[in-house]
Amino acid sequence: MPRHVAIIMDGNGRWASKRHLPRVAGHRAGVENIRTLVSCAAKRGIAALTLFAFSSENWRRPPLEVRLLMDLFVMALDQEVQKLHENSVRLRVIGDRSLFPDKLQASIETAEGLTHNNTGLTLVIAANYGGQWDIANAARYLAGEVAAGRLTETDITPDRLATCLSASDLPFPDLFIRSGGEHRISNFMLWQLAYAELYFTECLWPDFGQAEFEQALSSYGSRQRRFGMTGDQVDGAHSSDLAASDTSGT
Ligand code: IPE
Ligand code: IPE
Ligand code: MG
Repeated sequence: MPRHVAIIMDGNGRWASKRHLPRVAGHRAGVENIRTLVSCAAKRGIAALTLFAFSSENWRRPPLEVRLLMDLFVMALDQEVQKLHENSVRLRVIGDRSLFPDKLQASIETAEGLTHNNTGLTLVIAANYGGQWDIANAARYLAGEVAAGRLTETDITPDRLATCLSASDLPFPDLFIRSGGEHRISNFMLWQLAYAELYFTECLWPDFGQAEFEQALSSYGSRQRRFGMTGDQVDGAHSSDLAASDTSGT
């Protein structure tokens, strides 16, 4: 079972077009579907679920669609936060929220504040998020630390940089899912997905329900994660063998 699942929820627009509905109807159906997925993930004991809701590139969409997406986001947060709280879900939002309407920023803060101490599923919503933005932010922070004399250049290692990324307290995603049939990462968690198992499905996001989620989990369960080792090492290894073969020192 993966500890952390990250999902690009794609295909809302096409789901609506197929039904001769406006794109926003697809986004509404997509938000409905989040409820299903959150409850599936919680039931399966998954520790963290990260959902890509709005990318840093999505501002390029028609202004009306962007506005409707913002409105939907506020509505969904305000409506769902109490229920999430009752189910012990800890909600967090990653991405540059400074460009969001004030109302949305306020809703995010309220939701995060209310659910802060919950110990169930951690639900991370990536909004105005970009993987390159995330890495650049970490680099800028570290450059500041070096300039201030608190770190030296040699302190900047992959492990150190990873601690400066969004949601760095969570394990990296074990399983990445993209609905909607595209085979790309679209600037999602570029660093954090380095060793994720990738799962792509044609299924459009509003139709990606429990059965599809279970299928993705079962695909994940059938894979061998080798992290650079040989299959035999992973198969036959006792943890002591693995430790002995680990020359990276980590
Ligand atoms: C994903 O669905 C939702 C967002 C990007 C906000 P799309 O809106 O990208 O749906 P398609 O790809 O046009 O079908
Ligand atoms: C990626 O979907 C972002 C989200 C699902 C929020 P897009 O549909 O915007 O991705 P591209 O631009 O087609 O790759
Ligand atoms: Mg899309």
